[in-house]
Amino acid sequence: MRIIFATGNSKKLEEAREYLEPLGHDVELLLIEGKPPNFIEPQTSELMEVALSKSDQAISMISESELSDCAILVEDSGLFIDSLNGFPGVYSSYIYKTIGLNGILMLMSEEIVRHCEYRAVSVLVMNGKRIVRTGVCRGELSREISGQSGFGYDPIFIPNGSKGVSFGQMNESEKSSFSHRGKSLKALSEAIAPPSM
Ligand code: IMP
Repeated sequence: MRIIFATGNSKKLEEAREYLEPLGHDVELLLIEGKPPNFIEPQTSELMEVALSKSDQAISMISESELSDCAILVEDSGLFIDSLNGFPGVYSSYIYKTIGLNGILMLMSEEIVRHCEYRAVSVLVMNGKRIVRTGVCRGELSREISGQSGFGYDPIFIPNGSKGVSFGQMNESEKSSFSHRGKSLKALSEAIAPPSM
């Protein structure tokens, strides 16, 4: 299937390709006048609402004829820290840009319990239907920045089961085996797979 991913994040695109291309899907970037679209983020604390709003916005940017031979993918995600009641959550992107990794490490400097999770909501629109799947990756916040791979909070996020290795120290395929995004995309690909005989 031709899947058009509406994202401005090249790392999310790489992750989606890493996961979906071996399953036989072509993943392209949605470009409007040569650029990834800008979405209006609704004021809400729910990732699901943001993802659904972005999928509606993406669909409204594409003509019916283009929509007939492809599926549109939208994904929204964030880091949720248990001891901060889920902060930064839906504000992850803004907080990353304003206080960065060092700001989060400072906020957490007194915290002994450092459980957190990444969450992703992926929405695929095909044949006029919307399929929504979620993925969660539990982990711990590290005490220092390690690695330069991935994006966002990856250098301070250690997924459970990785023996202390952060996402920032993993390549795409290693990250994909743990990641919230990978899980939501796996669930989506299962939902669109033809039933086995
Ligand atoms: P959005 O989904 O584009 O609104 O942005 C989600 C934000 O959450 C990103 O800008 C990152 O700061 C953070 N985030 C979500 N998923 C990941 C991930 O896999 N690695 C690192 N940061 C992530």
